[in-house]
Amino acid sequence: MSKFTRRDFLDLVKKGLAVTGLSALLAPFLAYFYPPTLEEQPSDPVRVGLVDDIPLGEGLTIPFGRYPALVIHTDQGFRAYSAVCTHFACICKWDKEDQVIHCPCHEGYFEPHEGEVISGPPPLPLAKIPLSIIDGEIFIGGEA
Ligand code: FES
Repeated sequence: MSKFTRRDFLDLVKKGLAVTGLSALLAPFLAYFYPPTLEEQPSDPVRVGLVDDIPLGEGLTIPFGRYPALVIHTDQGFRAYSAVCTHFACICKWDKEDQVIHCPCHEGYFEPHEGEVISGPPPLPLAKIPLSIIDGEIFIGGEA
């Protein structure tokens, strides 16, 4: 049986360090070519909650794929929009007091029924997200 010498141990340490260093160098390249999949918008419907969770006049911001979505209970029913502003992609919020969707970055305002621009620099309405209510539960996206 051969003896494990000090030289063998140092060779093993050097090889371990080389593998670790090589991995640290290669990892960013592999991550570039094989990025983690993070869907822009989920392909399956996303459960928002119960209808009763969002009283009339209230809104909710929920995660929806890479970006958040706004679900609003308007006087014409529930509506869902991408929360991403059509100006420079800031995240819009529901302003319960004024019953408008507000983009805080450049004072953009959208109305809640169709997502149309009321005022400010946004060039387009907010992107609508399909919404469905099944057995008292709200779902957005997918085939909703
Ligand atoms: S990013 Fe929303 S108004 Fe400019």
